[in-house]
Amino acid sequence: MTTLTNVAAMHEWADAQHQRGATIALVPTMGALHSGHLALVNEAKRQADAVVTSIFVNPTQFAPDEDYDAYPRPLDTDREILAERDVDAVFAPTVEAMYPFGASTTEEPYVSVDVHTLNDHLCGAHRPGHFEGVVTVVTKLLNACKPDVAVFGQKDAQQLVILKHLAHSLLFDVEIVGVPTVREDDGLACSSRNAYLSDAERAEAPQVYAAIQAGEQAIASGEQHAEAVVRAMQKPLDQAEHARVQYASVVDASSLQPVTHLHPGDDVLIAVAVFFGDTRLIDNAFVHVP
Ligand code: PAJ
Repeated sequence: MTTLTNVAAMHEWADAQHQRGATIALVPTMGALHSGHLALVNEAKRQADAVVTSIFVNPTQFAPDEDYDAYPRPLDTDREILAERDVDAVFAPTVEAMYPFGASTTEEPYVSVDVHTLNDHLCGAHRPGHFEGVVTVVTKLLNACKPDVAVFGQKDAQQLVILKHLAHSLLFDVEIVGVPTVREDDGLACSSRNAYLSDAERAEAPQVYAAIQAGEQAIASGEQHAEAVVRAMQKPLDQAEHARVQYASVVDASSLQPVTHLHPGDDVLIAVAVFFGDTRLIDNAFVHVP
């Protein structure tokens, strides 16, 4: 497994793969790898001949009060994990390599893509600038790694929808593939941020998934009012003493706009964001209304 830290070397590697007739799948990550990331790596191996995983904690998607500095960066362990999985290359660039004109929005404009309505609700409404930063860095990662396929998790459902829109809107020659959420045995979605939880918070964190399951059950049993689905989702969270709900929502699965009534045949996304102390956890599910 080769580790590449600058864009010129990354281009050279990608060109060499394509010259030998191999296709490339990219798995973008911020490192601190867990089973969720590894499911993406496995899918990438199914999708293409050569797999590159990027590890880059992207400064432009963190707000000033978020955990950019504290975000875990166990690069050596991550590289060992990826080598064991027979990943072909790791792209671990410096901030300077990714942002040659500086990582400040005033110095380098964000990639401008019309995602504003996709960004209006869920995490986009609560993390101003976040998805602009994601769209910018993923555009750069696609340009650096030249993949045929890029693999992302449904765990970050709004991110996945926005990135599919990005690729479509800017005519990128890449297929965006989504992978279902990987969970711990107790249902908690795997996340690099789970490590921040205290024992008491960790014990209550599975209620986040219980909220999603409650929403799924309400829809499966015929509930047609989004408000009632949201109330069902909130119940398990009320039982978690340390939980502070940021949002619990039902939106259309493709436009990400709120829905009030669910009709048979609709596809919706039910989603929650919950703080345990300073740690923000998200979970969601795409649901087909019966
Ligand atoms: P990160 O949080 O490291 O996640 C990298 C990828 O792993 C994302 O596509 C995310 O959806 C996926 N993922 C995380 N937890 C998962 C789980 N439990 N099951 C399945 N997939 C999971 O998302 C980012 O990084 C960044 O925003 C990035 C796309 C790399 C841009 O900086």
